[in-house]
Order: sequence, then structure tokens, then C-alpha cells
Amino acid sequence: MLEKVTDRIYYYMNNDETDRPALGLVCGNDCCLIIDAGNSPKHANELKKEIESMNLPPVKYLVVTHHHWDHTFGLSEWNVVTIANQITYEYMKTYCNLKYDDHSLEEAKKNKIFKDTSIKSIKDEIEQRENFHPKNCTLLFSGEITIDLGGITCYLRQIVSPHTDDSTIIYVPEERMLFLGDCNYGYTSQGYNYYNKELMELNINAIKQYDAKYYLCSHESICTKEEMEAYWKQLRMGAKITETCNNIDEAIMEFKKIYNTEPNSDDIFFIRSFGVGKTWGREMDLKPEIF
Ligand SMILES: [Fe+2]
Repeated sequence: MLEKVTDRIYYYMNNDETDRPALGLVCGNDCCLIIDAGNSPKHANELKKEIESMNLPPVKYLVVTHHHWDHTFGLSEWNVVTIANQITYEYMKTYCNLKYDDHSLEEAKKNKIFKDTSIKSIKDEIEQRENFHPKNCTLLFSGEITIDLGGITCYLRQIVSPHTDDSTIIYVPEERMLFLGDCNYGYTSQGYNYYNKELMELNINAIKQYDAKYYLCSHESICTKEEMEAYWKQLRMGAKITETCNNIDEAIMEFKKIYNTEPNSDDIFFIRSFGVGKTWGREMDLKPEIF
């Protein structure tokens, strides 16, 4: 079932089991816009079915927030105008040129295109992988583009992000709703999550320019402004402690000194994500995997 945010905004809940991100739906008087295509034809078709049962204006547009497979592999099922920024489009060509049988997926893993857990999810989600051919988007933009759905508008904006360099966010001013994709997550490399402090600060400052009331990060439920502020506070804690400590033990001591309590597992995760611990001193040399 679709979750209702406002009278004109819905989302289809994420599911971590097979890396399904949340998918957005913005309903105008004339037409609707979807945010992210789903991680597979199966995922896309589930959302299509939900929308068909709702008696809404037709879906005319779909925008992908970035190139990662879990946001784009459902594209083949949408017979609408599909929109991406130019960098996303270029990255997605890699996926479109691959095959998806077991052997080809192993090769893609060796080439660091997919990590192990993504391959498992792809196998779980996509039936008849021998015949699976991902589609790319057809309408490309650079910087920003605005779409009028009839009484409601979607501002698509490229944004600096610690997650990828091809992130697009979607702001709906009439409903004060901001779809963030994965743009405020870190990136993954060699099984670790990383945050780059400078990119994180630029990302937070860019997001704060929008007077949003509701935020959707792709792998969470809907967030309020207060919840976003709490998240940013935790990120900044991780960044600050990383500046002054050389290993995870020092970081835990510093945390206890500042906050007068033990760090919980989320605190440790964010401290590690900024490079403290086993990866200290070499994290910036690591290149992000495609996912
Ligand atoms: Fe992503």
C-alpha cells in the first residue's frame, strides 16, 4: 500500500531485504510524477498496480535520483518520460552494456560494479536475468529543471552529495516535500561506509535552502525537519571526533568526555564512517564502488 504524506504526495515504502528504496509519487491536477523507477521490473510493477487502483491523473514523468541499480533497474516497465541528470545518464550506460546471467554478474563483481550483497538482491528480485536489459532515461538535464503537473510543481535540482556525484533531489514547494534519494548517505567501499566531511557540509547547506516540512531519504520512512536535524547532528558529531582522534578507542573516550554517556551503535557507525578506526588515514584513497 502507498503511504500518504499529504493529499498530493505518496510513497511506496522501502524494503531493506532486497535493497528496495522508497519510491515517490507526486499527483498534479493534470498528471503524476514518479520518483525512482524501482530496483527491478517486479518492484516497478507493484507500484504501478498500486497507482492503477487509486483513480489518479495519468503518470507522465519519472525522475531517477541517481544511477545506482536499486533506483533504476525498474525503468523498462515505465512507458512515460524518464528523466535523469546528464551524469546519471552517463553512469547508467555501464549497466545497459552489461549482461545479467550468473557468470556476467561474477565478472561485474570482479570489476567492482556490484558488491556481493547487491548481486544477491539482483538475483532475488530479477527473474529471467538472461533476458534482462536495463533501460536508460530519455530526457536529460544539467543543473535544474522544473515540471508543472497542474497545480503542483516539481523542482529537480542536481545537488552536491557525499554519496555520489550524480545526485538529483526533487522539491515540491506547494507541499513542502523534499525527496532526497540517497544524497545524504555516505558511500560504500570495501564493505565500509564512508563520509567525506566537506561534501557532507555542502550537502547539508544545500538541503537547508529548501523550506521543507517532510523529507524522504530512499532507505527510510518519511522524516520530519526535527529528525533531519538530529541526523545531521549525529553526522557532525562523527566528523568532529574524527578530526581530533587517531583510532576508535580514542574516539570512544572523546565521545564519553563530550556527551557524558557511552556511544550507541549508531554513534559508532557514524564515527567509523568518518574514517576513525581500522581505516584511519587511508579512507580518502578509496574509490567508491558503483554500489
Ligand atoms: Fe545509492
